[in-house]
Amino acid sequence: MAIDVQSGPGGFAGEVRGADLERAGDFSAIHRAFLDHGVIVMRDCSLTPEAQIAFSRRFGPLMGRRPSTPDKVLMPGLPEIVILSNRKVNGETVGITDAGRYWHSDLCFEEKPNMATILHAVEVPPEGGDTLFADLQQAYETLPDTLKSRIDGKRAAHTFRKHYLEVMAAGSPRPPLTQEQFEALALNYHPIARTHPETGRKTLFVNPGHTTEIEGMDEAESQDVLDALFEHCLQPEFIYRHQWKAGDTVIWDNRRVMHNAEPYDMDRYTRHMHRSCIHGDKPY
Ligand SMILES: [Fe+2]
Repeated sequence: MAIDVQSGPGGFAGEVRGADLERAGDFSAIHRAFLDHGVIVMRDCSLTPEAQIAFSRRFGPLMGRRPSTPDKVLMPGLPEIVILSNRKVNGETVGITDAGRYWHSDLCFEEKPNMATILHAVEVPPEGGDTLFADLQQAYETLPDTLKSRIDGKRAAHTFRKHYLEVMAAGSPRPPLTQEQFEALALNYHPIARTHPETGRKTLFVNPGHTTEIEGMDEAESQDVLDALFEHCLQPEFIYRHQWKAGDTVIWDNRRVMHNAEPYDMDRYTRHMHRSCIHGDKPY
């Protein structure tokens, strides 16, 4: 069966058909689709955690264990796989229950943010729990000139501190960090418009979850520009909504996409996913 890609409007997000994640010879077509479409979906994958790791490694080195990730959410014996799940075993949830419920790009606040994320659905709810993706490449290309000139050559700060303060203010049950731990959370500056290292295309690299301020602007102007950028990026024509089915494997390019996980009824349904992440480069 020939490999075929069906993509959404504007070429954003594609469904790759006829490819096998475990067949080495199929990787270059999958990788091409990933670069062309920013998000790719493959249906009906029977992907073991071992096979997911082997496939993920074809993209590049995998992200290892992070100090902020508790051991209990890592796949036993395979710490490259993080479990996102509300499934309970012996009364304890086996994964992260509420990951990524806001617009963000994975680990954008690190000096070298994640290149790609690979998420495989084992069990999904019949309703809710969709993931939304926004195409920041199309968003950059359609940016009004007035806004483009305001961000030209500028960098923005990215940090996990902002999201942490927001979830704590909203009453999160997570244990609070000490002042020292809070200050140790990463903060890095990246170009607002970055160049994709593999396609050479320019793309916005800001998101409401982690981008806090624009370097060299006063607070009011910085907020004004960021609000205008976010409003532009979140127009419906730049968004792909993925409604999960069990067996889906979705791969997205964090260098040109931001995403947002919607909630679902955790008392009624189970959602169980395996995530692997690929290291990236310093944005330029
Ligand atoms: Fe995420």
